[in-house]
Amino acid sequence: MSSYPIVRHRRLRRSAGLRSMVRETVLTADDMIYPIFVTYGENIRSEIPSMPGVYHLSMDLLEQEIREVAALGIKAVLLFGVPCHKDAHGSSAYDPNGIVQEAVRAVKGWAPELVVIADTCLCQFTDHGHCGVVRKDEATGIAVVDNDKSLELLVRTAISQAEAGADIIAPSNMMDGFVYAIRAGLDEAGYSDIAIMSYSVKYASAFYGPFRDAAHSAPQFGDRKTYQMDPANGREALREAESDVAEGADMLMVKPALAYLDIVKTLKEQFDLPVVAYNVSAEYSMVKAAAANGWIDERAIVLETLTGMKRAGADLIITYHAKDAAKWLRGDGM
Ligand code: PBG
Repeated sequence: MSSYPIVRHRRLRRSAGLRSMVRETVLTADDMIYPIFVTYGENIRSEIPSMPGVYHLSMDLLEQEIREVAALGIKAVLLFGVPCHKDAHGSSAYDPNGIVQEAVRAVKGWAPELVVIADTCLCQFTDHGHCGVVRKDEATGIAVVDNDKSLELLVRTAISQAEAGADIIAPSNMMDGFVYAIRAGLDEAGYSDIAIMSYSVKYASAFYGPFRDAAHSAPQFGDRKTYQMDPANGREALREAESDVAEGADMLMVKPALAYLDIVKTLKEQFDLPVVAYNVSAEYSMVKAAAANGWIDERAIVLETLTGMKRAGADLIITYHAKDAAKWLRGDGM
């Protein structure tokens, strides 16, 4: 008499050796991009209250941070600037001596081999906190974000970041045509080698809350729903990604990550470009809060989460956990 069950999945799970032989997804420090917030002033290392372990760093303390990141084997950082001057047109965003431009220059000086990615957006730099230029609609009198006017400023921002030495431009503003405009602008300015990591599929998400506290970039009126995507839409993500591919994007990003892993998987299946998942601020804050209460095992939760993102199709993960994860991975992994 044949014995049941006939299929025994547990045979390959019997030992750590067997499990590691058949493991399909292996997370490494190479997969991770570490976001850093740079601020003016001296000797500033102020922790963002809703993001324990993440800091506003002044330029003089940035070098130490960069050396630590590089020593951990992390290959790339994503720089965000917290400026001291804001105005209606976000002029500090494209100031050749702006905070991001200075930080990019400094980082490339300290660690030339580290890949420096510049976030290209206006919201941290505009007094109204929107990602573009605001004008009053003549017919309705309502304030709207002007797509094409915003593009001009984003192109200037991208060129100034490339001039400063950024390896990758990461436009996060969700204006239509931003990849094409930035690609054309970079090429014309002589930066045809500089890649564009497009925030292709960026949802209008509540998961950016802690970041907006950190970057002082919350919109002062209204919301971002006329340019960021409706969380209910999946097929629209394909249209966003398609246009970015056609316009010359080098990488496609999905943001946030956790609640949108179906989109990560779809993009991976439908397109040939590297897919990036942004493990955003509130995803980080929730883990930190639960860990601080002793409710979860932070190390296990973080490594499982990042592995899940990679399994879903992310080639790269932007994550505030990057330094911790890189340290943990140096040990015994999962
Ligand atoms: C700028 C930008 C945001 C984030 C990255 N770039 C905020 C937003 O769109 O409101 C969010 C990142 C995070 O939450 O970690 N547009």
